[in-house]
Amino acid sequence: MKAKEYTFDMRILGIETSCDETASAVVENGTIVHSNIIETSLDEHRQTGGIVPEIAARDAEKKILPAIFSALKHANASWEKIDAIAVTAGPGLIGSLLIGIEAARTLAFFHDKPLIPIHHITGHISANRLKETEAPNFPVLVLTVSGGHNELVLWKSDFEFERIGVTIDDAAGEAFDKAARMLGLGFPGGPEIEKSAKDGDATKYHFPRPMRNAEGFDFSFSGLKTALLYQIQKENDLASVRTDLAASFQEAVTETLFLRLQKAAEYFSVREIHLSGGVSANEKLREKIMSFCAEKKYTFRVPEMCFCTDNAAMIAGAAFWKMRQFPQKKWDWEKVVPQLTREFF
Ligand code: KG4
Ligand code: ZN
Repeated sequence: MKAKEYTFDMRILGIETSCDETASAVVENGTIVHSNIIETSLDEHRQTGGIVPEIAARDAEKKILPAIFSALKHANASWEKIDAIAVTAGPGLIGSLLIGIEAARTLAFFHDKPLIPIHHITGHISANRLKETEAPNFPVLVLTVSGGHNELVLWKSDFEFERIGVTIDDAAGEAFDKAARMLGLGFPGGPEIEKSAKDGDATKYHFPRPMRNAEGFDFSFSGLKTALLYQIQKENDLASVRTDLAASFQEAVTETLFLRLQKAAEYFSVREIHLSGGVSANEKLREKIMSFCAEKKYTFRVPEMCFCTDNAAMIAGAAFWKMRQFPQKKWDWEKVVPQLTREFF
């Protein structure tokens, strides 16, 4: 394919299949969302109480082409109106990733479009630019948390990121999912715990706030999960204390996330703080960070609910900023393969 000159007035078709969602979207200039189709295999995973990689991949295979064509249709876009294709190249479940990547490679080849590989987390971070007219005031401090990742990132320019903290074991979303299972709640655990916690007393149990005084900006959640397990084992009637356990556990997770973010905010010189990833849907976490930002005069951004959990609009959005950051690069479909490393690409 010839290297093309980009005007940076672009419509990008995004594809995301890193986990249990099969998603496609059309986004213009990293911000204007023309369509956002999200199909999920959650019903199958509710029955197993967690994600079974093979089920997720087989489901993605069924849904990928309908999702892409639906994204084009809702955007009222023919292939001529699409300037590039973007796809999540990793990290994620290899079976699911391959479905999205292979569809993207085939379409890019067939329609002669540039193909941009996107790191899933840079997608979650870029979700905060969707439907926004104002560019962030870089550098931005980002707390991005889902079932698969839990990180503090310095977002330095359109597509330049530096990881400053990671979880040394579980991600907070994973901790929510496992805790919900222990409490006899459904899957995914985050929203289930949040719902149950509404009727509970968050001060009834005091669970640890792991790593609160540790050096650096890393996280840990596996000890907190074990503390919940020991507490459940002590209870004679789980049903009567379930909501209090859920509320106290949610308080411990959200406060732990908040305390590490607060420490990073005090250390780095930033004027904006963003939250992203599936766990950013959590109201308690949003409230804590929002009131801190209001008090300390940071600009705060969190994506709209539909852009918090996995979606393809964030992938199409990130691709726009990536193309703009590297205008000389040739985006050849042949070079796009799964990338399972954690390093940003
Ligand atoms: O970003 P995402 O859709 O997929 C991954 O990249 O992992 O995030 C899914 C995670 C799950 O662990 C889920 O329990 C969590 O986000 N989550 C929440 C909420 N909604 C989703 N956690 C806490 N509160 C919520 N409201
Ligand atoms: Zn995600």
